[in-house]
Amino acid sequence: MSKLHKRTVLKMVALSALTVATLAACGKKEEAAPAPVAPAAEAPAKADPLKVGFVYVSPIGDGGWTFQHELGRKAVQEKFGDKIETSFVESVAEGPDSERVMRDMAGQGNKLIFATSFGYQEYVQKVGADLPDVNLQHATGYKRVANSATYDAKTFEGAYMAGIVAGAMTKTKTIGVVASVPIPEVVRNINSFVLGAQSVDPTIKAKVVWVNSWFSPPQEAEAATSLINGGVDVMYQNTNSPAVLKTAEERGVYAFGKDGDMSAYAPKAHLGSAVIDWTPYYTKVVQDALDGKVENGQNFWWGVKEGAMDLIKISDDVPQEVKDKVDQVRQGLKDGTFQIWKGPLKDNAGNELLADGAVADMPFITSIKFYVDGIEGTVPGAK
Ligand code: GUN
Repeated sequence: MSKLHKRTVLKMVALSALTVATLAACGKKEEAAPAPVAPAAEAPAKADPLKVGFVYVSPIGDGGWTFQHELGRKAVQEKFGDKIETSFVESVAEGPDSERVMRDMAGQGNKLIFATSFGYQEYVQKVGADLPDVNLQHATGYKRVANSATYDAKTFEGAYMAGIVAGAMTKTKTIGVVASVPIPEVVRNINSFVLGAQSVDPTIKAKVVWVNSWFSPPQEAEAATSLINGGVDVMYQNTNSPAVLKTAEERGVYAFGKDGDMSAYAPKAHLGSAVIDWTPYYTKVVQDALDGKVENGQNFWWGVKEGAMDLIKISDDVPQEVKDKVDQVRQGLKDGTFQIWKGPLKDNAGNELLADGAVADMPFITSIKFYVDGIEGTVPGAK
């Protein structure tokens, strides 16, 4: 019993005793004094909120990848209210610093941690193995421990839809990509963008400049400049900032937003934004954690079908028939009737990758280390 409630009961007992004494003094027959009313049972202690941490590789104001994760965090905080308490640490490098941040989050009581960049993989493994009562979620990774899961968005679907628009809008027939870190996910996105463009015009060529970083706006801008100087007039990127788009605006060419809605950064150059919505997945995982049944040991890869990926705000400069083609592909991705990775497909050295009509399986899609026909150069580190 709390101190407060104890005091209330004592007060009531004393009051009833006083009533009995007063009535007796007045010569009145004492009626049975009503039993003191017990105070209402104490409300059960409210469950502590589930603490959920987010580790971000770039600033929340990057306008793209991290901004979008942050929107997801805010959405779950709003949805679950005082059942959860979320926090984040931004600009965490993909190295030992990420391990320190995750351990610190766990030390502060976070039982669910979202590590939102590929290069955290090794550190998620270590922290997960050491802290079995913490659930770890690793974005874009492929390795898991008993208490971790991996997840990603099908960013290649957005890249393909953007490619359709690029293929229709390029005049030089040369499109370009500012690429970040050479992992299969990024190579798949480059190829998907080019395949989308070539679905409109098979003669289209593409150039790629790697910056070896997720977030480095000056380098991203420099890479974009070199693409434009090389004849590229429509660009895509796999980096986190709007630097490519801003460079396109300055130079009078076209580009896309990626991961977040980047239309406001370059109203003239912006052809559309390939946007990820992490909210459906974050809602699922937080609900699972509250229910005590997180699905560890699995990979979740959600795309257009699950409402996690879309190409939005297609520019008014884009002809209606091109928008219609994007709509058809979006619908096909939703209902499973359209396959991006389907033969005939050759790499840029002339090797057949998929025979006519063959549909790529998961091992093929998740380990792409080549450029499709029409892309200049070789994938860094590819053998
Ligand atoms: N930006 C920062 N990290 C990542 C990642 O792992 N994948 C993608 N697509 N973008 C990122």
